[in-house]
Amino acid sequence: MDGDTPGLITIEDAERLDIDQVHDLYEKYVSSSQVSLMTSFGFGRELVESAEGSWIRMRDGRRILDFSGGVGVLNHGHNHPRILAAREEFSRKHRMEVHKAFFSPYVAALSHNIASLLPEDLSISYFPNSGAEANEGAIKMAYKYHNGTRNTILRADISFHGKTLGAGSLTGSTENAFQFPGLPGAAIYPYGDVNAVRQAVRTHRTAAGGCDVYAIMVEPYSASTLRCWDESALRAIRRLCDEEDIVLIFDEVYTGWGKTGSLFYFMRHEGLAPDILAYSKSLGGGKASISGYTARERIFRRAYDRLADVILHSTTYYGFGEETASAIEAVNVVVEDDFPGRARKLEELLVPGLQRIAKAHPDAVREVAGTGALHGVFLNGGPRLLGLASRLAPGFSGDPQFRTKLVTLSVIAHLYREHNIMTYYSPNGANPLMVAPSLIAGPDEVEYFLDALDSTLSKGLSRLLTSFVREKVTSRW
Ligand SMILES: Cc1ncc(COP(=O)(O)O)c(C=O)c1O
Repeated sequence: MDGDTPGLITIEDAERLDIDQVHDLYEKYVSSSQVSLMTSFGFGRELVESAEGSWIRMRDGRRILDFSGGVGVLNHGHNHPRILAAREEFSRKHRMEVHKAFFSPYVAALSHNIASLLPEDLSISYFPNSGAEANEGAIKMAYKYHNGTRNTILRADISFHGKTLGAGSLTGSTENAFQFPGLPGAAIYPYGDVNAVRQAVRTHRTAAGGCDVYAIMVEPYSASTLRCWDESALRAIRRLCDEEDIVLIFDEVYTGWGKTGSLFYFMRHEGLAPDILAYSKSLGGGKASISGYTARERIFRRAYDRLADVILHSTTYYGFGEETASAIEAVNVVVEDDFPGRARKLEELLVPGLQRIAKAHPDAVREVAGTGALHGVFLNGGPRLLGLASRLAPGFSGDPQFRTKLVTLSVIAHLYREHNIMTYYSPNGANPLMVAPSLIAGPDEVEYFLDALDSTLSKGLSRLLTSFVREKVTSRW
């Protein structure tokens, strides 16, 4: 650490840090709990050298097959050559990042392209940097559309819309365990239950007796629980929103850009569209932190389209040059390489493969569910196994979810340690083991994964759990 400025670590120095030094710095300057959480789950004990496509190369040369799909970010895989080239070209030509006082051709082009891919008059876009910001922008626009005359927003019980104060207050995921202050007027409906939504709309009235609901947040496909709305129920919500002039917001932050087998999940239903669509993750092609929301023209115009309201919503990094250029390339790759079709091909391999595994291991697998390249294996935390988990990891017996997570983690850890495969579990709902490959994954990689999962489950969940906990107790981590 002998850079030009004493005491400051350079990039080169950072790349020379070993794992213990990185842990020390995390403990001092990031989060020591994060270090104990990650390492006790078997991850975070080594450093990554590089990543390409579906593969991660560790510093010790080990190659890991990444079947996490970057939790939605890596539809294009790691370091897609076209995204890298677009970014290198942008830098090489010294293009300008900040466009506050000039028009950005990149923002213009990306907005145009997205409008031409989305149905109906979903055509006016704004590009912040995270899924939560995209949702909050959509919510703000819906509130402003009603000019502050309505005060209720509906969200689902199992929803995941992000963790900022606003989006977090609309997130029902079980991981959102602490009550922070949030958006006023948020009411909850059970996911998928159109009658409950109708009832909520009926009961929330303004003082004058009109409808008080300004927006309904819907995840057409809930990536964190692997549940979906029935088509007829979604259409009924669309009609209800039309009748009551409620802004219908679809959160496709995770499921967008081909992941589920259509460009966006809702687009598999002809003639069905939200009033505002929020998206993120693979919009940046795995390299750029950019998100977006696109509104129907009439919603945008009534909410904001007058000089006095032009600066009511903005963020510093909106339309940053290289991020937006990366997104243009990422979307073009999604379309030209038919990512929805690729997801459907992966589904053709994954669905029968996972079902075969479920059948072969009825004691271990309770259910498999999913669509496109987004699947989950719900492991059987039956009473005997959960009892074993409690005995092996006492102190967590009051948290039944923790025991299910422990069972799932023991499978994830074995896949990682013994088969060099990376997966993750969803912290929401019943904590399925997520199988969510990038859309550039090929049949050989799927086969390798399925064989590894089959062989892992053949060990038996109680053995996997025991060795997982034993390793956790005896290892230096
Ligand atoms: C459906 C959904 N909405 C919103 C978000 C929040 O996105 P971010 O973490 O970028 O704020 C996520 C993130 O996983 C998501 O899956």
